[in-house]
Amino acid sequence: MLRRPRRNRKSATVRAMVQETHLSTDHLIFPLFMTEGQNKKVEISSMPGIHRLSPDHLLEEIYTCMELGIRTFALFPQIDESLKDSHARESHNPGGLYLRTIRQIKGQFPEASLMTDVAMDPYSSDGHDGLVRNGQILNDETLEILGKMALAQARAGADIIGPSDMMDGRVGFIRQILDAEGFTNVSIMSYTAKYASAFYGPFRDALESAPKFGDKKTYQMNPANRREALIEADLDVEEGADMLMVKPALAYLDVISLLSQNYDLPIAAYNVSGEYAMIKAAARNGWLDGERAMVECLMSMRRAGANIILTYFAREFAGWQRKG
Ligand code: PBG
Repeated sequence: MLRRPRRNRKSATVRAMVQETHLSTDHLIFPLFMTEGQNKKVEISSMPGIHRLSPDHLLEEIYTCMELGIRTFALFPQIDESLKDSHARESHNPGGLYLRTIRQIKGQFPEASLMTDVAMDPYSSDGHDGLVRNGQILNDETLEILGKMALAQARAGADIIGPSDMMDGRVGFIRQILDAEGFTNVSIMSYTAKYASAFYGPFRDALESAPKFGDKKTYQMNPANRREALIEADLDVEEGADMLMVKPALAYLDVISLLSQNYDLPIAAYNVSGEYAMIKAAARNGWLDGERAMVECLMSMRRAGANIILTYFAREFAGWQRKG
């Protein structure tokens, strides 16, 4: 045999030398859930190791993560039911939990990079990402609220704005408002191809943000579609997005690969709550090695073409890497 591919696998040194894909904390964004109060740290039952944190614990968590080399965080608020309304007014209240905490984090950790979420669902009494009228989720009428939200977040110190509602015209509208107010350096990571997925279940538990009626299929994409992701990506590029995201990640590696081959912008993959929960549940049952499964899955996203991965494993991965 002239050709023996096994020669390139013969030792750890050779294997490391020919390794095609690498993964480090530089690539990771850690999503964190915040809640009002003091000294609160409540584990989300479907996401072992992930908590809703009051601002004091959140700051500690960020400190620990920064020590481990994780520097970018995606923040999601759990809003008290009494503060929710049909227009998500709490979303741009400068004294509210989210904006107040962002200012605090930036004050204490100026070098931390913060990604903020622009969508109505955590603040909406309807539990939908957009304004609801007669059972319809409105597209254009929601823009004004999202614009206020994005601007308030930029003022609080957000580094990356993440419009996550998967409706039309978000990126362009937000870009224009940010620029008009002088926030030309605030980035936009668009939720370009976000699918109507069962894998968001644990996240909606964490934020108590599940829709009060219906589902999100009129705005999130049909899991059966691939080419449609190209339409969404074209629009996001035209509208001025800085990074394109695919969500979820594991069941959509082909879409990550498609976008990474067709666009020059950085591609992000959102390794969502349900994907985290699956591995944790299986590992807890002793059905697989959780750490190896974690690394293998994260690596698959990088291999598919993701430059950036948003993952609830970020801290665990950093710890695993540190221990060698
Ligand atoms: C909603 C939003 C969702 C997630 C992030 N932003 C859920 C949804 O669309 O209902 C899910 C993230 C996860 O499951 O980890 N704006």
